[in-house]
Amino acid sequence: MDFSHLPRHVAIIMDGNGRWAKRRGLPRTAGHAAGAETFRTIATYCKDIGLEYLTVYAFSTENWKRPAGEVSAIMGLLKRYLLEAIAKMEKDRVKMKFLGDLAPLSPELRALCRRTEEISTHYEGCQVNICLNYGGRDEIVRAVRALAAECAAGKREAASICEEDLSAHLDSAGIPDPDLVIRPSGELRLSNFLPWQSAYAEFYFTDVLWPDFTREELDKALADYQSRSRRFGGV
Ligand code: FPP
Repeated sequence: MDFSHLPRHVAIIMDGNGRWAKRRGLPRTAGHAAGAETFRTIATYCKDIGLEYLTVYAFSTENWKRPAGEVSAIMGLLKRYLLEAIAKMEKDRVKMKFLGDLAPLSPELRALCRRTEEISTHYEGCQVNICLNYGGRDEIVRAVRALAAECAAGKREAASICEEDLSAHLDSAGIPDPDLVIRPSGELRLSNFLPWQSAYAEFYFTDVLWPDFTREELDKALADYQSRSRRFGGV
């Protein structure tokens, strides 16, 4: 793996926490706790190797269908993580952003997300994006609504709307598209994760469950990415 030719933006679907716990005879929530630990390790590693953007799928618009205890355990892990992140922000200087519709989250968690974004807004270097109550289709619908409202207000011509306009109205506005999307746990699906932004991404799938995903596993994914030839529709 060549550290001088890293992708700018790596996106990860943190999948397999439940199966990891089940195999150990533990409750699913223990899998999420282990997954949060893996996220800490991988985010630190991404910063250390000089990756510019890391985006992770922490909670989807569909994840509300899970048992209430599991949802609140994930929210609790996020709260703990954000409190820790705020406490060591000046030292870490990782810029943080949240993608997704934060409105249905608890006021406390929402405030923590906003605070984390505000404090870190001027940091340069590594940016970590956490997708929270995120769904790619929901994000596109919200962007289309915003564009339609601008048209209705006479601020924009419908016929002049281009791809860049839509990109600029997504939660990911200003963030380059992911170069590499990683999905552990053996599932071969995108599950509504960054569908617009991943149009030209490279995909890497592995059977390793997210709590078992190590720095070495990320190195493997990066090396695999470096072996690909990206043509973006050209030759
Ligand atoms: C998918 O595994 C994982 C989730 C829906 C939750 C991910 C949440 C965390 C890792 C913890 C909080 C995050 C941060 C950023 C601190 P699954 O439960 O669907 O696994 P399974 O397919 O094996 O059941």
